[in-house]
Amino acid sequence: MEWTREQRYLPYEKHSALELLKLQAQAANSSYQMHYHVRPSSGLLNDPNGFSYYNNEWHVFYQSFPFGAAHGLKSWMHMTSPDLVHWQNHGLALAPDTEYDSHGAYSGSARVIDDRLFLMYTGNHRDADWQRTPYQLGAWLDKQNQVTKLDQPLFVNPDHISEHFRDPQLLKHDGKYYAIIGAQEKDTQEGHIDLWVSDELTTGWQEVGYVDCMADSMGYMCECPNLIDVDGHPVLIFCPQGLDKKVADYENIYPNMYLIGDDFDYEKAKLINSSQIPVNLDDGFDVYATQAFNAPDGKAYAISWVGLPDLSYPTDTENWANCLSQVKELHYQNGRLLQKPVAAMKELRGQAESFNGNVSHIKTGRQFEMSVDIAADQAGTLFLAAAQDLSAGLQVRFDTRTGKLSVDRSHAGQPVAPDFGTVRSVKLPVDQPLKLDVFIDHSLAEIFVNDGEHVLTLRFFNDPCQVWAGFDERINAHGTVWQLKNM
Ligand code: FRU
Repeated sequence: MEWTREQRYLPYEKHSALELLKLQAQAANSSYQMHYHVRPSSGLLNDPNGFSYYNNEWHVFYQSFPFGAAHGLKSWMHMTSPDLVHWQNHGLALAPDTEYDSHGAYSGSARVIDDRLFLMYTGNHRDADWQRTPYQLGAWLDKQNQVTKLDQPLFVNPDHISEHFRDPQLLKHDGKYYAIIGAQEKDTQEGHIDLWVSDELTTGWQEVGYVDCMADSMGYMCECPNLIDVDGHPVLIFCPQGLDKKVADYENIYPNMYLIGDDFDYEKAKLINSSQIPVNLDDGFDVYATQAFNAPDGKAYAISWVGLPDLSYPTDTENWANCLSQVKELHYQNGRLLQKPVAAMKELRGQAESFNGNVSHIKTGRQFEMSVDIAADQAGTLFLAAAQDLSAGLQVRFDTRTGKLSVDRSHAGQPVAPDFGTVRSVKLPVDQPLKLDVFIDHSLAEIFVNDGEHVLTLRFFNDPCQVWAGFDERINAHGTVWQLKNM
């Protein structure tokens, strides 16, 4: 269905309660629906927002258009968790209901300040001529999960920045508040990460300047920047749109990448000794708008939108789309990030079954974790979410002698964004054993390679009867499959 502007921006109160109930039922009953990942209660989900730890719970919000599979009038939906795995939905938290966020409560972050959680986000406002003003806004969340918006914007885009100015991450350093924001320079139409500072938080914001982190252009816009500390290293995670592929390789429509430095100079807005060439955070097909933060114990956690802007997905016809990734713990190793499942993921494990590489197929169902160890001199294909005769399914091809691994989703059901390729590959150390930890949740696969040296995340939309996994030939390997419980 083609959505008109009027349909996309119809105020929430003009939609009927019955319409919403029907959409919720449709999303819940879909055979592609996720059962242990954050998924939209109805309509479209995109970026994770406000990922934080407050009042003895983990919080994450997500960008939501509850009335269908379209990027319409956005709000924040609120989820909380005791362990980063079991999430409870608290419904709408930030509605697009003021002049400043009239056309969407866009992405932002959260930070505990005294006994409340401060939400900093972008209000998307458009006037009668459809001219956009991006307001940077604030709101307080209290211990009863009640939200109170600030009366006035924190700041707007300065003259030299275009209408593309959004997704603030609120930081604190040396007693001052800082925010990094995705921005586009008006004259050059180039993307940047812009740094702002304030002594008081709710007033007095001033621009420090663009973060110096890359010699090359980031493209025409940079969305969803995050600055976090990973094992003592400052890491910038961001989504550079229109990045030249000569600068860094990527195949998705828009990449989600990171840079690592030795230090971050807040006064000069500089990532010191930046790695300069950004690398893909995820090597799969569908990760975007990752949000990361440092928990009170200093550990860095990340959660991503599994979906990409400007693409359609097969469940659009069922009026819902997308989900969040599982939360990953981030670590630093030899100039790169390692991403690991959080400890509580093991609590989802139910019945276990061991297998070895002589078995041509095992019945996994559609909601499982599989851990596999493959010897150093092996080449073959691991089929997942496959037909019993392995004629269809996701294909994980590996060659541990040459150090190659690829995931092919071209034989795994309905095509998804085929224009952007159907195979994603990573390089592995040669002649080394390979360890895979695979999570499947109906239409979502998260494949951790060698304890998180790479993660390949993707959606696939296969025939629900395809509940098998196996190798296409004898492989020197052994592994375990666990059935996973609902979250
Ligand atoms: C990224 C993004 C953000 C924006 C939000 C709107 O996916 O475009 O830049 O704040 O989505 O939903």
